[in-house]
Amino acid sequence: MSRLVVVSNRVADPRRTAAGGLAVALADVLNSTGGLWFGWSGRIVEAAAGGKPGEGAMHTQQAGPVKLVTVDLCRQDHDEFYVGYSNGVLWPVFHYRLDLADFDAGYIAGYRRVNQLFARKLQPQLRPDDIIWIHDYHLIPLAAELRALGCTNRIGFFLHIPLPPPLILAAIPGHDWLIRALFAYDVVGFQSQADHGHFCRYIETEAHAQNLGDGRWRAFNRTVHAGAFPIGIDVEEFNALVQAPDGRDMYERMQQEYARRKLLIGVDRLDYSKGLPQRMRSFRDLLQRYPETRNSATLIQIASPSREDVSAYTDILHELETLCGSINGNYGELEWMPVRYIHRTVARSRLPGLYRASRVALVTPLRDGMNLVAKEFVASQDPQDPGVLVLSRFAGAAEQLTDALLVNPYDVEGTANAIHLALQMPVEERRARHQGLMANVRDYDVHWWCDSFLECLEKAKAEETGTPWLRL
Ligand code: ADP
Ligand code: F6P
Repeated sequence: MSRLVVVSNRVADPRRTAAGGLAVALADVLNSTGGLWFGWSGRIVEAAAGGKPGEGAMHTQQAGPVKLVTVDLCRQDHDEFYVGYSNGVLWPVFHYRLDLADFDAGYIAGYRRVNQLFARKLQPQLRPDDIIWIHDYHLIPLAAELRALGCTNRIGFFLHIPLPPPLILAAIPGHDWLIRALFAYDVVGFQSQADHGHFCRYIETEAHAQNLGDGRWRAFNRTVHAGAFPIGIDVEEFNALVQAPDGRDMYERMQQEYARRKLLIGVDRLDYSKGLPQRMRSFRDLLQRYPETRNSATLIQIASPSREDVSAYTDILHELETLCGSINGNYGELEWMPVRYIHRTVARSRLPGLYRASRVALVTPLRDGMNLVAKEFVASQDPQDPGVLVLSRFAGAAEQLTDALLVNPYDVEGTANAIHLALQMPVEERRARHQGLMANVRDYDVHWWCDSFLECLEKAKAEETGTPWLRL
């Protein structure tokens, strides 16, 4: 059997927990298949300590069935590749936020340099029949760099974040270079039908790609398969975590503490794409217009620190803190605080109990590739007395989780009304909606995601005639 080589910027020990959909999903996949996981070590080497652009020490570690191989980055590479281009250009534009993009011409050189560094370090680790699966926006040109070094392995790419419509994508200087790099892959996967549709429209109109049918496209002397492969969660793992001592303990403690009140939960990385200020404004509007919710509804918002070296993230942190402070100041009572805001990552073992004790989950991103929290919440519920999912129509998950209460997070009043509906929803309706949601979460779990993508990669290679890759 071929070995699976997973490549992503962020590499986590699959035996431990992490915040971020990619790390969580890949840890689940690799724990069951074994293989090699390659990426950034998370270490930044200052110039004074010998850090040089385009260079980095390599580290190898065995974590159960998974070999972890990671590379250090020097300060300049980190700042240009990770902060500058990946999170200062690609992340905002791919989340439709042209206003937050910083198109500094210098960043792209660093982005390319780190992709070349990764290719040089990874190539000697590869065996001829390895299947390589590259993840996310940090590493779009990696397959092209590997091909330039002579790599003929099967290579797939999965984009964990949204792909915007062609006209938004075209705002990126060098967008044509970026999309052309995707043709070095055998399979390119997206989270949703909408993202896949944007890709097809872009390559048809901007790159004049030829549609060969069955998801295959021909351009730049290569054939690529493109499709939607919505990512899922490990449902079995969540079932086990709900029943485990930590999960039960958390559930019971929350049940006791909130016996008289209804609990609402939000769990996110603190990112401007998650719509946290809008969510707080909707919650404030709920308290304002539905006085019966005062002293009876409590929102626990867990927002883990994320990318604090990017200025847009410190701005959102301050905005959120101010909003939480003013809601508590204006509506709080001696024995009740409307919002409990926690700026930390919570242990993964405690999340299922917390989800299960909550009557409502608020998953209201302004734009999100998928959003795994929505699926984790559904999987953690008691089917006899389930909570209600309030879900943004702009999350990739909304294409699948149509039994949720779908909202427009920009519409403060409309979202507040939906939260009110969720808090009052009779148990029969909650059960019926949960049944529909759970069927989807179970059918399209992380194993389905992995198997269907890799199956497509397997087939795709058989059709590729080994045409040479034209250098970028
Ligand atoms: P993203 O990939 O943008 O971070 P997702 O919702 O797809 O968003 O994935 C987030 C993952 O990280 C989920 O598995 C979730 O449980 C976990 N996570 C997010 N925030 C926290 C937090 N504050 N504490 C613990 N885990 C978190
Ligand atoms: O899932 C989206 C994602 O951007 C991943 O690529 C990333 O690992 C995760 O969110 C967390 O972000 P970061 O790696 O920048 O901390």
